[in-house]
Amino acid sequence: MDRIAITGGVRLEGEIPISGAKNSAIKLMAASLLTDEPLRLTNMPRLADTRFLGRLLQRLGADLVESDGVDGPETVLRTKEIVSAIAPYDLVRQMRASFNVLGPLLARTGQAKVSLPGGCTIGARPVDLHLKALEALGAQIDLHEGYVYAQAPRGLRGATIAFPFVSVGATEHALLAAVLAEGETVLENAACEPEIVDLADCLNKMGASISGAGTPSIRIKGVARLGGASHAVIPDRIETGTYALAAAMAGGEVRLTNTRADLIEALLDKMTEAGAEVTRHNDGVTVKRNGARLRAVEIETDPYPGFATDLQAQFMALMTLADGESVVRETIFENRFMHAPELRRLGADITVSGGEARVRGVDALEGAPVMATDLRASVSLVIAGLAARGETMVNRVYHLDRGFERLEEKLGACGAQVRRIVGDGEPED
Ligand code: UD1
Repeated sequence: MDRIAITGGVRLEGEIPISGAKNSAIKLMAASLLTDEPLRLTNMPRLADTRFLGRLLQRLGADLVESDGVDGPETVLRTKEIVSAIAPYDLVRQMRASFNVLGPLLARTGQAKVSLPGGCTIGARPVDLHLKALEALGAQIDLHEGYVYAQAPRGLRGATIAFPFVSVGATEHALLAAVLAEGETVLENAACEPEIVDLADCLNKMGASISGAGTPSIRIKGVARLGGASHAVIPDRIETGTYALAAAMAGGEVRLTNTRADLIEALLDKMTEAGAEVTRHNDGVTVKRNGARLRAVEIETDPYPGFATDLQAQFMALMTLADGESVVRETIFENRFMHAPELRRLGADITVSGGEARVRGVDALEGAPVMATDLRASVSLVIAGLAARGETMVNRVYHLDRGFERLEEKLGACGAQVRRIVGDGEPED
C-alpha cells in the first residue's frame, strides 16, 4: 500500500484549484441510470470512489466516456438499457454510496437486488431510512443473505415521507426514486446539504419537477420519463475546507479557487474566531496566518448549514497547536474520533469521552509514523504533519485517494514537502 511522507514546518504560499465534489458526483452518476439518454457531467473529480461507481454502473449497462473538455474533466454516462439490476457485494463493499443505485434501478425497471453496505469504520451507518423511504413510495423490500430485494411491479407512487432525523443519503435516495413515481412526493425533515441542491438541479435539467431542495421540505411531482442533460458538479466543500485548514495550520497564504466560500461558512466563522485571516472572493477564498498562534475555539458538528462532520478531524488537528483548550463535539456519527490517538502519536494532548474530545494546545507537534483509518481522519494527519517538526509518515493512504484528487501535487504547488511512496501492491483490506 502507498504511504505519504510529509516534512513539516514549511509555510504554504500559492493557489489551490478545488475539484468537483465527490459526494455530489457519485449521486449524479447514479442519477444517469434514470434515463436512456446521455448525462454529461463536467467539473468531475477523478477519484477512486468515482472509478468504483463507474465500474458498477458499467456492470448495470452504462456506457461511460471520460475526457478533458473545455469545461475541465467530464464524464458522459448513457444507459440505453439496464442489462442487470444487481449490485453485488464486492462492489458495494468497496464504496457505501454504491447503495444509491437501488432507487434509480427500482424506479426505472421496477426491481433491483443490491447488497447491503454493512458497517464502516465511523460507525454502524444503517440504511433503514433509505429502505423506509422506498417502502413509503410503494416498493416491496425483502432482505436475504445480505441483499436488499426490491420490487415495484406496478411502479412507484408518490407519498409524504417525514424523516425522523436528517440523513443526507436517505434524502438523496428518496429524491432519486420519487422523480419517476406517479403523483406527488413530499420529503419532510430533508437534508439541506449543497449536494442535495446539486442533485435536484441536475434532475430538474433532466426533466424532473423538484422544488424546495436546500430546505427541510422538498416537493417532487413525478414525471413519466427523464431525458439527457449537461451539468457541472458543484465544488467540493470538504476539499475547500481541508485546504483552508491546511493553510491555517502550516501558516502562510493560500488562495483556494474554483470554489465557493458560502459552502463552508460555519468553518470560516470558526477559523476567524480562532485567529486565521479569511478573505472571500467571487471564485473562492484566501486563508492567511502569519506567525501568531491561534486561539482554541469550540465546535459541534451538525447537519448543513452547521459545522460539517467531514471537517471535524481536520479542525481537531488545527486545535492541537492552538492556545488553550478546545472542545470538539461530534453529533452525526458515533466513533468518529479514530484520528485522536494518531494525533496523540504526534504529541497532541487530546482526551475523548463519548461524543466529545478535549484538545489542549501544545507548543509543537513532532513527526511520527501514523495510520490512516478513514477518509477525513487520513487528511487530518496530513494537515498535522504539515506543522509537525521532522517527518510524518501516513500509512494506508488508500482512504485519501478515495476523496482527495492529486493531494500531493496540490499541496506541493504551495511549497509543502509531501511525497508519495508507492507501495508493494500488498492487498488493501
Ligand atoms: C453523507 C456523506 C458523508 C457525510 C455525511 C453527513 C456521502 C457519500 N457521504 O453520508 O461524507 O459525513 O453525509 O454529512 O455523501 N443513518 C441512519 N439510518 C439511515 C441513514 C443514516 O441511522 O438509514 C444515520 C447515520 O448512521 C448517521 C446519520 O444518520 O449517524 C447521518 O448519516 P447520513 O446523513 O445518512 O450520512 P451519509 O449519507 O451516509
